[in-house]
Amino acid sequence: MRSKFVGCLLGVAVGDALGASFEGLPPIEAGWVEVEGTLRYTDDTQMTIGVAESLIENGGFNGEHMAKTFIKNYDPTRGYGPGPPRVFRWIKAGIPWNKAAKRLYGGMGSYGNGAAMRIAPVGLLYYDEPDKLEEIARQVSSITHTHPLGVEGAAIQAYAVALAVKTEPESLDREAYIQKLLDIAESPVYRGKLEAVRELLRVNASRSLVVRELGNGVEAFNSVPTAIYTFLSTETFKEAVLHAISLGGDTDTIASMTGAIAGAHHGEESIPKTWINALENGEKGRTYIKNLAEELWRMKTQKRRRVKKPY
Ligand code: AR6
Ligand code: MG
Repeated sequence: MRSKFVGCLLGVAVGDALGASFEGLPPIEAGWVEVEGTLRYTDDTQMTIGVAESLIENGGFNGEHMAKTFIKNYDPTRGYGPGPPRVFRWIKAGIPWNKAAKRLYGGMGSYGNGAAMRIAPVGLLYYDEPDKLEEIARQVSSITHTHPLGVEGAAIQAYAVALAVKTEPESLDREAYIQKLLDIAESPVYRGKLEAVRELLRVNASRSLVVRELGNGVEAFNSVPTAIYTFLSTETFKEAVLHAISLGGDTDTIASMTGAIAGAHHGEESIPKTWINALENGEKGRTYIKNLAEELWRMKTQKRRRVKKPY
């Protein structure tokens, strides 16, 4: 279990950092990605770190604290989408953390994948409490993303991570996995895309068909189902992340979300050493990220023990 937690958060960072050099390019032939020099992660990992830090410091969700953590961690060189920095400014100007994001995009709120891309720690911490997982995923999203499709994308991604934690590679039942995701999907948009995932797996679809059916864009509904498909259509962490990158478009975020699920499923040992060693290791680099994952795992196991103790 410890390996799954670490694999998940390192998977977020490795997928993000590898995918970042391919952002916006058309689909490529997978398998030839070569790592040169240091891999630098982007906002996906930066915000995932913020979610993990705040959950750990508060022993659970605290909206005000998490919003402040995002603001403290904000680094414009990490390539954020346009929405979150505006929300950060509004909160700094005194708008409450649970009101600011509603102002984005003409009052519709954002349906970008920025909430889903950072949600992995919620999938880990609540992997065996689906109701709580969904509720906390929604709250974590609402700090920057309030459009129902942005929020639902994050809830589905969190649950995808949770299911990956709960299942073992030898006995992964892909059909059951998709069915469980369909059980929590509410909107016709996500339900339709998850049905499409099932069908694409069945026909062993080409890259272009996958992109046409599921999308590879910055919108949550055009990238969360794609990441889930990519995980389910591959057998190893490496294959999953390379396949995600090969789909083009928002490669850092799709590879990062794929990396979260695949890392949670296959564990830390499944991530190529050359990739992990190339990942930046400064103040909040790979060692720090691994520690966060281990801390979440400790929280989980300690909480369990408390509940089980027959006082
Ligand atoms: N109406 C129209 N377009 C929208 C709407 C809406 N309601 N909501 C989102 N978009 P944003 P993020 C589009 O700004 O989700 C980084 O590269 C709009 O084009 O909330 O945090 C990361 O690595 C907007 O610019 O930011 C991720 O790839 C875009 O969705 C990504 O950005 C992003 O929404 C995360 O971005
Ligand atoms: Mg990014």
